[in-house]
Amino acid sequence: MDRIAITGGSALNGVIPIYGAKNSALKLQAAALLSPEPLVLENMPDLADTRFMAQLLASLGVEVAWIKEARTLRLHAAEIASTIAPYDQVRKMRASFNVLGPLLARVGHATVSLPGGCAIGARPVDLHLKAFEAMGADIHIEQGYVKAAALRGLKGAEIAFPFVSVGATEHAMLAAVLAQGDTVLRNAACEPEIADLADCLNAMGARIEGAGSPEITVRGVARLAGATHRVVSDRIETGTYALAAAAAGGDVLLEGANFHHNEALWAVMKAAGASVEEASRGVHVRRRGGRVAPVDIETAPYPGFPTDLQAQTMALLCLADGQSRIKETIFENRFMHAPELARLGAQIAVHGNEAVVTGVERLFGAPVMATDLRASVSLVIAGLAAEGQTVVNRVYHLDRGFERLEAKLAGCGAQIERQRED
Ligand code: EPZ
Repeated sequence: MDRIAITGGSALNGVIPIYGAKNSALKLQAAALLSPEPLVLENMPDLADTRFMAQLLASLGVEVAWIKEARTLRLHAAEIASTIAPYDQVRKMRASFNVLGPLLARVGHATVSLPGGCAIGARPVDLHLKAFEAMGADIHIEQGYVKAAALRGLKGAEIAFPFVSVGATEHAMLAAVLAQGDTVLRNAACEPEIADLADCLNAMGARIEGAGSPEITVRGVARLAGATHRVVSDRIETGTYALAAAAAGGDVLLEGANFHHNEALWAVMKAAGASVEEASRGVHVRRRGGRVAPVDIETAPYPGFPTDLQAQTMALLCLADGQSRIKETIFENRFMHAPELARLGAQIAVHGNEAVVTGVERLFGAPVMATDLRASVSLVIAGLAAEGQTVVNRVYHLDRGFERLEAKLAGCGAQIERQRED
């Protein structure tokens, strides 16, 4: 298994290109199943997860072409050859579950494995299934599989989510676009990825209004066409490199980033003592000398502080001059990085869903490993700021969501390399 070795202490100076958002791309890929015409996705990230989704789509009969130099993925679902997503595929990547709604909407039935839990929490899909039932689908769970059928088509429905779910909002939208009649989604998630998915579906001929707000109306259409869509830039990748620059010190331009998609993070970073400004080509982040200030954070659905940046922010606050409190409200088990950060000398006490981080003056390099994508990259950030060498094991987690991580950081002066193991 590959490892990443970092010798900390170098400031980051330069330009880091920000690519399309993984968590948008995966749902946009699933949208290709809705139309017999090609969907062309520009600004696609090239990640283990997006490749995996492309393979799953190919197994369902979608013609897949990746044009590497143009960062463009062309998906053509002229015919659906299979409506089954097996356990091995959904177990490896939860977003595979998102093929259920489009298959149900286009073909009238689908058999998709339940995803099961993962390292950060139980992550049930009950809200997804209730939304499909509200649209008239028959849902049965048999031997770990969801068997869904709506042989005479889905029907528009009023769906009020009991709490905000990104996945359920997107999945309901992906099914409702081809339903008969109108669907209203209340208490919908407002993440930029939801608006991105709606923009793509509307370009395909869907009629969605209100995406990005808590109430979304989807007026069903009989058929969707093809389209070309540019994937929204990755606000989590943006925030991760911004936090890396704040932790290691330096001056970076995050090229292609959307400043307005990370307002909650910028408020925290400014309170910690970093400078963050909107630039014509992206976002400009600077921090020079001195200790960072402690800040309290609480994760929340967008536009609140993103859970996907909690671990990376904790890495920064490990070096603060004082105590920070971090409350995780989205996932029940998302502090797995805390004991690994402690291996570098961080002082973190976890009580349930709250962590108290008592800042230290220095971190010291050590071998570490992590259990998920964002936790792994928080260890990279801590390693960049630590004295001596940090070796991050289980790099496959990073490869799921960060394209060219070592190259982007090394391009700004970080001493970082991948060590390959046969
Ligand atoms: C998406 O997961 C992202 N994944 C996650 O990013 C992200 O952390 C999360 O949204 C929150 O922003 C993708 O987009 C592929 P939710 P999702 O449904 O949609 C509970 C990363 O690192 N829930 O908003 O699965 C759930 O367990 C990943 O890139 C139910 O109880 O998140 C959680 O506690 C990790 N029943 C809460 O709701 C349901 O049916 C919010 O989850 C659905 C969700």
